[in-house]
Amino acid sequence: MAPDLVPAHVGIIMDGNGRWARERNLPRTHGHGEGLKAAKRIVRAASDLGIRCLSLYAFSTENWKRATDEVSYLMDLIKTHLKQEFRFYRENGVRVVHSGNRSGLPADILAEIDETARETAGFTGLTVNLLVNYGGRDEIIRAANKASETGALTEKSLSAALDNPEFPELDLLIRTGREYRISNFLLWQSAYAELWFSDKYWPDWEASDLAEAVAGYQKRNRRFGSV
Ligand code: IPE
Ligand code: IPE
Ligand code: MG
Repeated sequence: MAPDLVPAHVGIIMDGNGRWARERNLPRTHGHGEGLKAAKRIVRAASDLGIRCLSLYAFSTENWKRATDEVSYLMDLIKTHLKQEFRFYRENGVRVVHSGNRSGLPADILAEIDETARETAGFTGLTVNLLVNYGGRDEIIRAANKASETGALTEKSLSAALDNPEFPELDLLIRTGREYRISNFLLWQSAYAELWFSDKYWPDWEASDLAEAVAGYQKRNRRFGSV
């Protein structure tokens, strides 16, 4: 794989956990458990491919509309994972950061997110951006409010006020699970992202699926408005 053509920032809308479970007559929550295993496989695969930044959509600002049981299960899964997996991050040299609205998140989740970010801050491999209580519109509004405190709103000032301003713009946006929409994911950052849709449900994703998406990306002709 041509290293100069590896996308710097890949974002994944990890979708299809519930349908994966339903097809097996399992509860939706079981699908989320398998989805977490897939996320770990793909973090390793992204590292191996030399991707610098990986944004993973774990919980949207709209996902609170789901049944309370499912919401608590997801919050617990995120919390337990962060508590238990420091070794996984250390072994893979992965730095973890968060994007999303902090004010809507329970204190115990925030504490785990912050602790993981602190403990992994010195790791120099892949950066994983966990999107929890994240909405693209919400991020833009928060950034616009912050940026307008210090002067006129410009693309530059708004970009600098995003949750992780050091991240490059999104190069490759992947959505799994047979849905072909953006669902409020990284709206600002995806202005010129290449889109890749996979019909596989997220729990079925393997390293080879990521390699295929990146190979597809490498065949695209990105023009950014020029000819
Ligand atoms: C994606 O899978 C995971 C989250 C949104 C947390 P879903 O739970 O949306 O699975 P489907 O789309 O219902 O199959
Ligand atoms: C997007 O998936 C959110 C995450 C993957 C976390 P959804 O399943 O919530 O999206 P919609 O409702 O199908 O658009
Ligand atoms: Mg879904």
